[in-house]
Amino acid sequence: MKINKICCIGAGYVGGPTMAVIAKKNPEIQVTIVDINEERIAAWNDEDVSNLPIYEPGLAEIVEETRGKNLFFSTEINKAIDEAEMIFISVNTPTKTYGKGKGMAADLKYVELCARNIAEVATTDKIVVEKSTLPVRTAQAIKSILHNTGSDVNFSILSNPEFLAEGTAIEDLLSPDRVLIGGESEDAIESLANIYGSWVPQDRILRTNVWSSELSKLTANAFLAQRISSINAISELCEHTEANVNEVARAIGMDSRIGPKFLNASIGFGGSCFQKDILNLVYIARSYGLNQVADYWEQVIILNDHQKRRFSDNLISTLYNTVSGKKIAMLGWAFKKDTNDTRESAAIYVADHLLSEQANIAVYDPKVSDKKVQNDLNYLNTRTSEENRDLVTSYSDPYEAVKDAHAIAIMTEWDEFKTYDWKKIYESMKKPAFIFDGRNILNKEEMNDIGFEYSSIGK
Ligand code: UDX
Ligand code: UDX
Repeated sequence: MKINKICCIGAGYVGGPTMAVIAKKNPEIQVTIVDINEERIAAWNDEDVSNLPIYEPGLAEIVEETRGKNLFFSTEINKAIDEAEMIFISVNTPTKTYGKGKGMAADLKYVELCARNIAEVATTDKIVVEKSTLPVRTAQAIKSILHNTGSDVNFSILSNPEFLAEGTAIEDLLSPDRVLIGGESEDAIESLANIYGSWVPQDRILRTNVWSSELSKLTANAFLAQRISSINAISELCEHTEANVNEVARAIGMDSRIGPKFLNASIGFGGSCFQKDILNLVYIARSYGLNQVADYWEQVIILNDHQKRRFSDNLISTLYNTVSGKKIAMLGWAFKKDTNDTRESAAIYVADHLLSEQANIAVYDPKVSDKKVQNDLNYLNTRTSEENRDLVTSYSDPYEAVKDAHAIAIMTEWDEFKTYDWKKIYESMKKPAFIFDGRNILNKEEMNDIGFEYSSIGK
């Protein structure tokens, strides 16, 4: 099928960058991203591209280049669906917060709504592409909804999981390790492969069946998360021995079978995907009665929760077993650098624990708004929004955030933190001045020379 028009439902961290790159590389295809959130679409259409709803290096430039030419953002969902030959579903699939599978299974409500919407509106044949990460066999459900509409429109369903990491999404999209397309219809697969083929070499475009494609996505994220939990487990052992986790990571990473990437010990992984995808995997395994498989993967999350908790426990015990009434400055709130995304960020959980111990929290993050910080804490429901507002203050100047603080907790590895005038910071803090470096980005000797009580992960 020749694709002239693409519609993408969901203008989020995945839909936005992916479609921007597809539009840039396929100037003859008209790409329309639709979303039910009017405010979000308005932000995507903001003349000043520094106001785009998501921050991602390189994205604003591509949007500026393509928007209004062959890339459009709209709330007219039905119109975009009807006109397109290919529709990407890129809506969120949060972990269920109610009913069966609560806390484990993916909530497919939005995906199903999309499928029903497509079924209702479509008057011509469509290729429907699952872009959101979904539990295995979701394509089957989408297919069943689409094919039971009574109309004689033909639908082909493809699974095309995204592997982009936030902060490097544009780079990852422009030169992907691989693009994965799962499907039954060869024609549909080739239509999508052609779109990617305008910039991705054919040997990097893998074709599989739908289920392999869906499961590969969950498995890739599970393996990546498992590496982090593995090195974090070793980091705790290092802290009780004379070993240094950075040295261990370097030594094992030079084994080409292990490889050097994704071995940074940290405060624990965050982000919208890792935890959710592993929970999904665990849920699926349990639903087939595969308890050993489920327990195996669940341990990756248990260890991650433990890593976050022991960071805040250590901070509290080092501050003489009380943080009550003390100002603790948190540098970074995003789940990793170069994004304004805070979903499942370790900072949220560490802050929540410290707040339960009555700390006053000062937050500085170069890209995260105060509104987001407050929303993240309110979402946990641990205390009222008034209490959160009283106890947590965001600053736009890092030097103000750390002034008179008893301790600094580094939560995100933003590059700018390394360039601060740490002597000046030391002088403005309460003494002894503590740093808890949850990302191992500062130099211990330098910090000790200035006078800080410095601790990091795995040393
Ligand atoms: C991601 C991915 O798609 C998924 O693979 C990952 O596992 C988690 O969520 P992301 O782009 O990061 O999506 O999510 P988000 O930024 O929340 O964007 C989803 C968008 O879909 C939102 O803007 C939301 O308003 C929109 N949406 C949701 C619709 O337009 N219609 C709906 O019915 C539901
Ligand atoms: C991840 C996958 O990498 C991507 O392929 C998938 O499509 C979506 O999920 P993302 O969550 O955006 O991407 O970022 P990623 O770079 O994987 O980082 C996830 C978390 O792990 C972050 O909190 C990061 O700080 C942490 N991390 C990563 C570590 O703690 N140590 C590491 O060595 C690497």
